[in-house]
Amino acid sequence: PPSSHVSLTVNGTRRTVTVDNRTSLLDLLREHFGLTGSKKGCNAGACGACTVLVDGRRVNSCLTLAVRLESAEVTTIEGLADGDRLHPLQQAFIDEDAFQCGYCTPGQIVSGVGCIQEGHTGSPEEIREWMSGNICRCGCYVKIVRAVEQTAG
Ligand code: FES
Repeated sequence: PPSSHVSLTVNGTRRTVTVDNRTSLLDLLREHFGLTGSKKGCNAGACGACTVLVDGRRVNSCLTLAVRLESAEVTTIEGLADGDRLHPLQQAFIDEDAFQCGYCTPGQIVSGVGCIQEGHTGSPEEIREWMSGNICRCGCYVKIVRAVEQTAG
């Protein structure tokens, strides 16, 4: 199958790879780079477990072709902490107990960071709406929204 070179920055590190043109960003991250924090829930854009930031914007990495990301800056859940210091939203998820099984959590946190950066945090309803692409089967929405709200200040 046709393949292409792509050079992109992932969590601050420049990476150049040759991949099958059909490879999703999610598979690139998980299979090629060993960054398994981004989860594959549905692999069809319906759950948000694979959410990462591309040039600061939230995307479902399962729906994004890796070869389209020449020169892009990608941030995954692995890139949020500052050394041993968790990102404030990661800490807020712990403080608010905003997960049960944890499978959706990386996507929820990355999406929450995006939501805060976009400024969609005026009310719990607004956060809920702008986080609506991230499904939590355990139903932790109230605590997730609280963690985002608290972090947004
Ligand atoms: Fe990408 Fe579900 S795995 S949206």
